[in-house]
Amino acid sequence: MKIELTVNGMLRSFEVGPMTRLIDLLRDDLRHTGTKEGCGEGECGACSVIMDGQLVTSCLIPAIQASGSEVLTVEGLGTSQNPDPLQTAFSEEGAIHCGFCTPGMILASHALLAKHPEPDLKTIRRELSGNICRCTGYEKIYEAVNRAAREGYGQDIKPRPNLCVQKAPSFTPEEAERYFYPATLAEALKTLQQHPGLPILAGGTDLMVDVKGGRLHLDKALAVFHLPELHELRQDDNCIHIGSCVTNDELDNSPLINELLPSLAACARQCGGPAIQNRATIGGNICTASGAGDLPVVLLALDASVILASADGEERMRLEDFVLRYRQTALKPGQLVKAILVPLPAKGSRQVFFKRGSRKALTLSRVSLAAYLELEEDKIRLLRLAAGSMSPIPRRLKETEAELIGKKLDRPLLEKAASAASREISPRKQTHYRKKITGNLVSRFFEEVLETAGK
Ligand SMILES: Cc1cc2nc3c(=O)[nH]c(=O)nc-3n(C[C@H](O)[C@H](O)[C@H](O)COP(=O)(O)OP(=O)(O)OC[C@H]3O[C@@H](n4cnc5c(N)ncnc54)[C@H](O)[C@@H]3O)c2cc1C
Ligand code: FES
Ligand code: FES
Repeated sequence: MKIELTVNGMLRSFEVGPMTRLIDLLRDDLRHTGTKEGCGEGECGACSVIMDGQLVTSCLIPAIQASGSEVLTVEGLGTSQNPDPLQTAFSEEGAIHCGFCTPGMILASHALLAKHPEPDLKTIRRELSGNICRCTGYEKIYEAVNRAAREGYGQDIKPRPNLCVQKAPSFTPEEAERYFYPATLAEALKTLQQHPGLPILAGGTDLMVDVKGGRLHLDKALAVFHLPELHELRQDDNCIHIGSCVTNDELDNSPLINELLPSLAACARQCGGPAIQNRATIGGNICTASGAGDLPVVLLALDASVILASADGEERMRLEDFVLRYRQTALKPGQLVKAILVPLPAKGSRQVFFKRGSRKALTLSRVSLAAYLELEEDKIRLLRLAAGSMSPIPRRLKETEAELIGKKLDRPLLEKAASAASREISPRKQTHYRKKITGNLVSRFFEEVLETAGK
């Protein structure tokens, strides 16, 4: 395959396999060895670069999806003779020790200051949460970012659009039978009709990890992340339409989602660090069908449906019926998930998402809980509770819901609600911890509702 990309302002051409990783193009072909490989699975941030204005982990970007993009690596920021002010701040604040994490940390800081030219400490921590440093200690890194911000570093960075339509690669005739980069959704659906069962490659944050881990060999794929139709996010008559390739970052930054589905926005901002959030899609999270997936927990509580599209038309299915079991959905050959539909929440309803993991930043859920509540006077009219990380796939807590619907929401009910939820879940590991925390989270949700009502 032939692709062209602009790296640090220079147009470069490569002849590579479609699944060659961006990090390998940078390090092996261009000898831009500032980009480091640590984990190779999106977790350490050492390979972070900026692609089309967005921080990404280059170990998870296949060449097919980098085609036509503009990439900035640490070599493009400055040199040792002529360092960038951010590099100077890192060096003078003592934020560099062995230096392995530094290029990724500096690019993450560049992306952070482009978005937030005057960040507070909480923002700095959050935006650097996907970059791990094993030796400096983070305080000096945060101070270096602060100093660059005080010196006005972020003011000069031009914002970039979230989604740049990239140039299709030119495949060899043999590759053109197996790899596809459609120009439109209609073309993608036609391709799926001709090649049913073709793996769908959205943001790649699950698939590329499986490739790296040797669990998957992607010798064919249909790339869909770049399709604008799949990034549509809008309010229709009685629901919110979320295109399947809407990313966690797009959810987190959408005023519509923050206003109407705050539990979904809260969840999206807790899934991975910023580089992962820029690529991880809502459709990918659902279709991976893992018990640890976070967005499906919220979507179950919000009673979402999926729109499945094929060249023959569309069908709508409740999310609850779509995810069948671990790593298995009801998707038929020739279909893809086009969008997720979430009913508009009732006026005065309450929703929440809680996640508990082994550490604060960048953690997989050990316990997650989402709730949606409608009250009539002080009685529970409608309640949907969903839990993740307890079973092979996230699921609703229907027995607890049934026990509580129709009851008066008051303080004596909190304990009852907590013990009903603890009883209903049956995690196979860390059973006592998970039961206890789930019960506590249910009770905390109701307590917050009572507190806002001044009771
Ligand atoms: C470091 C790291 C941290 C993470 N943290 C979290 C976390 O905290 N919480 C969490 O829930 N997840 C987390 N993930 C997992 C991952 O980011 C999410 O599951 C993500 O939403 C997957 O989306 P994607 O677009 O990258 O999927 P991809 O990897 O592109 O695809 C995943 C699966 O979905 C299928 N698929 C994708 N789109 C469609 C479609 N439109 N129609 C049909 N099938 C489709 C693919 O064929 C594949 O089987 C993390 C991953 C990494 C690497
Ligand atoms: S090498 Fe660790 S995130 Fe890419
Ligand atoms: S400076 Fe050594 S890992 Fe960060």
